[in-house]
Amino acid sequence: MSDSTSGQIDSVMTEDRLFPPNAEFASRSAIGSMAAYQKLYDEAKANPEAFWDKLAKAELHWFKPYDKVLEWKVPNAKWFVGGKTNVSYNCLDAHLTTARRNKAAIIWEGEPGDTRTLTYQQLHQEVCKFANALKKLGVKPGDVVSIYMPMTPELVVAMQACARIGAVHSVIFAGFSAEAIADRNNDANAKIQLTADAAWRRGKQLELKSVVDEALAKSPTVEKCVVLKRIGNEVTMQDGRDVWWHDVMAEASTDCPAAQLDSEAPLFILYTSGSTGKPKGIKHTTAGYILWAKKTFEWVFDHRDEDIFWCTADCGWITGHSYVAYGPLAAGATVMMYEGAPNWPLENRFWELIEKHKINILYTAPTAIRAFIKWGDEHVDKHDLSSLRLLGTVGEGINPEAWMWYHRKIGGERCPIVDTWWQTETGGIMMSPLPGAIPTKPGSCTKPLPGVIPSIVDEQLHEVQQNHGGMLCVSHPWPGMLRGIWEDDARYNEQYWTKVPGKYLTGDNARQDDDGYYWIMGRIDDVINVSGHRLSTIEVESALVSHSKVAEAAAVGRPDEIKGQAIAVFVTIKGNAEPSEELRQELKLHVRKEIGALAQPDDIRFTAALPKTRSGKIMRRLLRDIASGNADIAGDTSTLEDYSVLAKLRDDEE
Ligand code: PRX
Repeated sequence: MSDSTSGQIDSVMTEDRLFPPNAEFASRSAIGSMAAYQKLYDEAKANPEAFWDKLAKAELHWFKPYDKVLEWKVPNAKWFVGGKTNVSYNCLDAHLTTARRNKAAIIWEGEPGDTRTLTYQQLHQEVCKFANALKKLGVKPGDVVSIYMPMTPELVVAMQACARIGAVHSVIFAGFSAEAIADRNNDANAKIQLTADAAWRRGKQLELKSVVDEALAKSPTVEKCVVLKRIGNEVTMQDGRDVWWHDVMAEASTDCPAAQLDSEAPLFILYTSGSTGKPKGIKHTTAGYILWAKKTFEWVFDHRDEDIFWCTADCGWITGHSYVAYGPLAAGATVMMYEGAPNWPLENRFWELIEKHKINILYTAPTAIRAFIKWGDEHVDKHDLSSLRLLGTVGEGINPEAWMWYHRKIGGERCPIVDTWWQTETGGIMMSPLPGAIPTKPGSCTKPLPGVIPSIVDEQLHEVQQNHGGMLCVSHPWPGMLRGIWEDDARYNEQYWTKVPGKYLTGDNARQDDDGYYWIMGRIDDVINVSGHRLSTIEVESALVSHSKVAEAAAVGRPDEIKGQAIAVFVTIKGNAEPSEELRQELKLHVRKEIGALAQPDDIRFTAALPKTRSGKIMRRLLRDIASGNADIAGDTSTLEDYSVLAKLRDDEE
């Protein structure tokens, strides 16, 4: 084991289950063997510019060819310099002269069960009309359009319409507060707001328009607000500022040629929480982003034309940008979109949707999977899930036992699982199994995609050896990378490019095992240092989740006079178990048995729910405070179940 000063992290997790792709699956995959993956990977690594040049020419439509593939001056990359293209053209127009013209682009289901299907041609027409409506409202290339809408097809129409005319969208998840919207609008100088009267959430109406009214009172740059009538509840329309979506659409023409935009024209800003609490506006641009979203979609999800692909993420997150609104459409896929909650009206809603629409690929988050496990197998057992052929996860590490449940219960032991590691900043998937090529190991995101050159370094910036954890960096620019933090070059440089000069610092810890597989070990700040051994939170959590009574666990460090840090864990247990002193002891011994005495938790607190950010990530910072006695609510575990306290703390977290 390493000493704590080297900055390495000790890995105590052993996982030797290996799941090779089944032969039938591999035989139909575009990349159907490890050798084929390796060949592609090596080609990209040997000459990244030649590799991306070939793909950009083959995969994208260019109004004007680019002069240069890459201009790289740390930390600023420009891809396909001098070229002119359009993201919306590549997602829509490109299919209109092919057999995909009448293919379903979006199959949508609302929470109450209403459904709609839009073919590529229909989606194209809607996007053209809304793009014309935006122009009429005075939106010019480079203007920022703030979007706060429910998961309806119009949300994708709005994003695509912005892309079509060169406006920059900033989608704000429709669960954020008025304050959060105003902060983001002001940071971005948003000119137009798009919203809806309300959204459905667990049978209740979330009154989006009234939240927006409050936000716009504090967003002086916003001149107009377009309101989609989703539900028909009463809203106040402000004269001169607010207009109805259906009114602006009624008079708009379907003729709107895609603007010829520079490869590096900004496409969107997406705010993500930063370590200081002030959200960062991550900036993505045109050509590199769409190439990355399209190719990673095709590689990782092994796209076949007859598939229905369902990414359950909301378009308010990067996952919904890259794998709902852009990547699959650029690839000509059929995208399933669902508006509501997974447990409405009952906990079987996802499985009902899969059976009803015969969905083939399901891409969801570990937090959802852990909720399904907690809700019980009976909700799954009622349904025929045989249409599924591939499963994916995103957003955080998946504990091996949750992975096994997903594999057995949802995948029927026949569907490969792609555990995809990436970030808002990376634009698209960076590491993932290619399902026809790379054998999977539960809990590992396996291998980097072609064009991704990872590097794991310790505090002294030396590459660590296999089986040692360190800071995960990326050594070479890639087309989908962020191009900066909106209006904050200094923060961009400081956050991602300073600590490890010349490399992109991801902020995650990772290790490589003997087979060269990557294991993400949590955020750099999440490391626990016990008696000089740096442990990763996810390993302790995975050991706990492997106990039959545990649904979910979060591990954090708290100060300890003797050990430096002690391990405190917060545990939610499954429906059929009761918290007790015996169970507490049993869990401590279980972790001891699974990974060793060093990792045995010192404190175990039972809780009905873990505090999470709106995107479902466990708020370890808050738990650290609680465990260390620094939070007002310290000591009283019942407050963790008090959602009003949590809601307040969640707001603080933003
Ligand atoms: O810590 C990693 C974790 O989520 C972070 C990125 O979060 P965000 O920008 O919100 O994007 C989420 C959707 C891509 C990463 O730095 N993370 C994401 N995917 C995984 C993961 N951790 C482990 N395994 C993953 N597959």
